[in-house]
Amino acid sequence: MTSPDSTTSTSGGASRHGGTLITGACGEFGHGLIRTLYDAGHRDIIALDVREVDASLKPMCRETIVGDITDTALLSRLHANYEIRSIFHLAALLSTRSEFNPEAAHQVNVVGTMHLLKLAVDEAMSHGSPVRFMFPSSIAVYGVDSLQAKARAGAVSEDQCLEPTTMYGCNKLACEHLGRYYARHYRQLAKDRPSGEARVDFRCIRFPGVISAFTLPSGGTSDFAPEMIHAAARGEPYACFVREDARIPFITMPDAIEALLRLHAAVATRLTRSVYNITAFAPSAGEIASIVRSHFPKAEITFRPDIERQGIVDSWPEDTKDAAARADWGFKPQHDLQAAFEEYLIPNIKAHYTN
Ligand code: SER
Repeated sequence: MTSPDSTTSTSGGASRHGGTLITGACGEFGHGLIRTLYDAGHRDIIALDVREVDASLKPMCRETIVGDITDTALLSRLHANYEIRSIFHLAALLSTRSEFNPEAAHQVNVVGTMHLLKLAVDEAMSHGSPVRFMFPSSIAVYGVDSLQAKARAGAVSEDQCLEPTTMYGCNKLACEHLGRYYARHYRQLAKDRPSGEARVDFRCIRFPGVISAFTLPSGGTSDFAPEMIHAAARGEPYACFVREDARIPFITMPDAIEALLRLHAAVATRLTRSVYNITAFAPSAGEIASIVRSHFPKAEITFRPDIERQGIVDSWPEDTKDAAARADWGFKPQHDLQAAFEEYLIPNIKAHYTN
């Protein structure tokens, strides 16, 4: 494998196109983000995923690429062809899937991220301006060792309880540090280290569980909430894999995307940290089931906890503190729990499954 060529600024003599790179383009976050960026007038999207990008999204992208973020030759080609100003690095193996193959998770979640951070450095150095590197981290970076500790911790700040019990959480926490390193200290002893404007501008949000009305996550541990809602809308029974009292924070997909774009657009001097918590509502699984039943009276929801997956949810905090995101870049979710269901989830899910 070759490494990205940091001096290349042209491709075959032609000047490079501007580009906004989105990795994990086929994931539910990628879908929503591509549509939102396209609707906002972006015509420079380069979508990368290990799977073929949906036919409906292709016309919204300048280029769609089937490939792996650990393929450095592919990233070199991107560097040769594009002047990338922003990277939304969404590709990851989620928390449940990562527990079945932690080494593969490390490759994708950490090594892949490092390659993209290196691409960002090379891009910044070749065009002489910062590359915004948007990174979704997760509540999985937290770890409490008992339900008592979870209750005691309550809503946690960015700096508390950072002892994750999952590979995914370890990977995300490692990448938060790598992002800070590449942004502020990369090759700090080398004479030709990045300087001035030519730098990586790493910005990270720790997301709670995300719920979309249109897509389902795959391989996560917060999946019980979206799975329960979508199963009810499809008229299918659902056995929830956590206890009724399991509680973690959530946010709707539109609010999650809006947050990512708001942080991306924020003036750098307003940012007091590189990693921000955000949260919107924090119901228990039982509370979610009651709301789902009130909208779908025939919903058949049972609780059949899977001890291991329940253990992961028990290690995550019941909520997070997001005062810094609100103060620094104006984070303000549109949907609280009631609005999430009444204004976003229920109308859209019903329309989605009846069409
Ligand atoms: N939704 C993620 C997962 O469950 C957590 O951020 O893996």
